Amino acid sequence: MKDLSEIREQVRRQYEQFPYPDCDPDWDRPQLLVSGHLGLMCEVLWAGKKSPKDLRVLDAGCGTGSALVAMAMAFPDADIVGVDFSETSLDKARRLAETHHVKNVRFYNRAIEQLPELGLTFDFVSASGVLHHLPDPAAGLKAIGDVLDPQGAISIMLYGKYGRTGVYMLQEALRLVNQAEAQAAPTLSGEQIRFAYQLAQQVPPRHPMASRSRGREMQEGKEAGVVDLLLHANDIPFDVPAVYKMCEDAGMRFYRWLFPLIYKMDSFFNDPFLLNRMAKAKMSRQQQEETAELAHGRNSKHSFIAVRPEFSPPDFSITAGNWRKLHAKLTPCMAWNRTLPVPGKENLYAVPFTIIQDAWGPLEISRWQLMFLGHITPDITLEQVLRLPAVQKEIPFKSEKEIDTAVEDLLKRAMDRLAIVFLERNE
Ligand SMILES: C[S@@+](CC[C@H](N)C(=O)[O-])C[C@H]1O[C@@H](n2cnc3c(N)ncnc32)[C@H](O)[C@@H]1O
Repeated sequence: MKDLSEIREQVRRQYEQFPYPDCDPDWDRPQLLVSGHLGLMCEVLWAGKKSPKDLRVLDAGCGTGSALVAMAMAFPDADIVGVDFSETSLDKARRLAETHHVKNVRFYNRAIEQLPELGLTFDFVSASGVLHHLPDPAAGLKAIGDVLDPQGAISIMLYGKYGRTGVYMLQEALRLVNQAEAQAAPTLSGEQIRFAYQLAQQVPPRHPMASRSRGREMQEGKEAGVVDLLLHANDIPFDVPAVYKMCEDAGMRFYRWLFPLIYKMDSFFNDPFLLNRMAKAKMSRQQQEETAELAHGRNSKHSFIAVRPEFSPPDFSITAGNWRKLHAKLTPCMAWNRTLPVPGKENLYAVPFTIIQDAWGPLEISRWQLMFLGHITPDITLEQVLRLPAVQKEIPFKSEKEIDTAVEDLLKRAMDRLAIVFLERNE
């Protein structure tokens, strides 16, 4: 049994040799994702009270820096710190920052577990694709919690157990093939990497790995991509209970999934028998999410927000009629400017996602819903949006009760996709 520091050292050596991502071919996605998160979090968590201008931001395990540099470009007045224990990754991140003339970034070569030694405090921390590589992820999260402002938030992405079944099967197969060599030489050879790549390419079409073999993570066979996916020194998969447990063990509070719809049965099933029986089963929220994850079976990532236990972010849950007094804002999660009619479905429009994991489908809405959402601006209440003549013209309901139910339903669907955030205003 290896001890924790030995595992950490193996991971460090891996990223010294194979910094990842090795020049991201699809630079737009991670940057949109993380810089988008930051803007959204200012609204969702702080209801506009903390401005992105003055934020102290940490990218914990920043790697080659694509998300960090993107955040620095999107928020030029924020103070942005990158921490990683791979110097070759940090070098690439520094060069990326120089290429983009980014000035508001600083880098530290440090293990996440030693973050408190920096003596810094942060409002927002991104830990994307990192904690599952620590020998003790909860200890890493605790160290991040220790440098978090009491009102701060951590955006975390962890690998999902079930959606990556094929990856973990191949990782295990490769461990068996490489075990004798691994004892003699701790570093990976070119032949081991080539074998891993070829094996992934040649699995039969029904193998759970088949759909991923040509995915962007493999980076067209670039060594760093293959190593990160298939030959990782420490890759701990998470399911729903493991996510909650890690937060608890770290003394942090799970606040919300970034995209809650992935954790709801009715996002995957519409048979009334199944859904009614689920409703009668008296399960806790976590059990319902666990059931959805198991029944769906494809979730390869968990993205969520953790906060310190004493922080209570504003709760904008939509209940009967309360939406009328709220102010809201549409978010950059959805490409409202690319909304198009759905072919073959009359009166239905699709708003595509800009940032979302695992190719979730667009938000499909009817014409009155599009008009209602399309007229939302932060300056007026949702009741005032509803009363606008252009919206009124499209509303198909007669009674206020019908409107209440329909708008509530629409807002909940939009919230599940982070398509909309509510703003705190005294009205
Ligand atoms: C998969 S890469 C992710 C990089 C970046 N967050 C991204 O999303 O592109 C994981 C990074 O975490 C770093 N890392 C892993 N364990 C670490 C630890 N204990 N302390 C500091 N950095 C660590 C690695 O060096 C590597 O750069």
